[in-house]
Amino acid sequence: PLRVLSGIQPSGKLTLGNYIGAMKNFVALQKEYECFFMIVDLHAITVPQEPAALREQTEAVAALFIAAGIDPAHAAVFLQSHVPQHAELGWIMTTLSYMGELERMTQFKDKSEGKDAVGAGLFVYPSLMAADILLYQANLVPVGDDQKQHLELTRDLAGRFNFKFGDTLTVPEPYIPKVGARIMSLDDASKKMSKSNPNVGSYIALLDSPDDIRKKISRAKTDLGREIVFDPQNKPEVSNLMSIYSNCSGLSLEEVQARFDGQGYGTFKKELAEQVVATLEPLQQRYREIRESGAIHDILRDGAEKAQAVAEATTRRVKEAMGFLLPG
Ligand code: TYM
Repeated sequence: PLRVLSGIQPSGKLTLGNYIGAMKNFVALQKEYECFFMIVDLHAITVPQEPAALREQTEAVAALFIAAGIDPAHAAVFLQSHVPQHAELGWIMTTLSYMGELERMTQFKDKSEGKDAVGAGLFVYPSLMAADILLYQANLVPVGDDQKQHLELTRDLAGRFNFKFGDTLTVPEPYIPKVGARIMSLDDASKKMSKSNPNVGSYIALLDSPDDIRKKISRAKTDLGREIVFDPQNKPEVSNLMSIYSNCSGLSLEEVQARFDGQGYGTFKKELAEQVVATLEPLQQRYREIRESGAIHDILRDGAEKAQAVAEATTRRVKEAMGFLLPG
């Protein structure tokens, strides 16, 4: 079967953007593909992390994966740091990467802008991400729009490796949602929704209480006028809210538009809040059950075991192709 791999960082709280852009598709793909979903703790430490917080966030994100509907019987759920081949192939991919192409990465430019001390890990972050994907010979990588450029680099690195050392690595394709690939901030639709925004009203965290969700949506910025029409150019704020509605309700954008034809923002926002609450409340319930059950550790152990078998096989082939003398 075709393989799928994706990862999410265990930094801060996950948002509705992470859910719509990525996790929702993890769940959708798990029946049809051989799936690997990991928590990328090695990527998280490219910016400073407090040890206790990293530990808690890692376990929280693992529990959210399961709560969102990822079935560990179908998909391997694991930590990047539990499979040492990530660091190993990450180094190999770093040696294949050019300074110039890493300097062009917009995520690096954003994260390093205005800082006087920029960690080297932040610079080679995309090389490690390429290793994550290539280790599993993944065909599809479900991600939001902001990871497209990293996927492009991954494809280039796979092609470069295969050209130099012979056909070894699968060149992956991004799998990006048609609606909701880039969920925007609730206070400014020119910025993507992000857990690192200091204004907590700008994002919906997956573990926000129903009341907080209602409050945040009622305060979300809207555009001039009162029509509910999908027009990202002229009505970016409302269009963003419509994308969220579409994802939470399962209705198409056309259906959302038809449903609110002739109604104002007030009615729309009230219903939107209820759609988001209805999506997140059951997830939160499952999240609490999983955290209490203590089942996460077993899930992560089994997941790492499955992942490691594949990662080991690829690493062996890569090293052999490059001329490493393999242990006898
Ligand atoms: P991260 O942890 O920043 O985000 C996880 C996923 O959520 C998506 N996403 C969004 N989608 C729509 N709207 C938004 N506002 C939004 N914010 C975040 C991201 O596109 C991503 O899919 N580099 C990756 C982690 C990573 C990875 C990998 C992903 C490491 N190795 C291998 C795929 C394959 C990242 O920082 O994601």
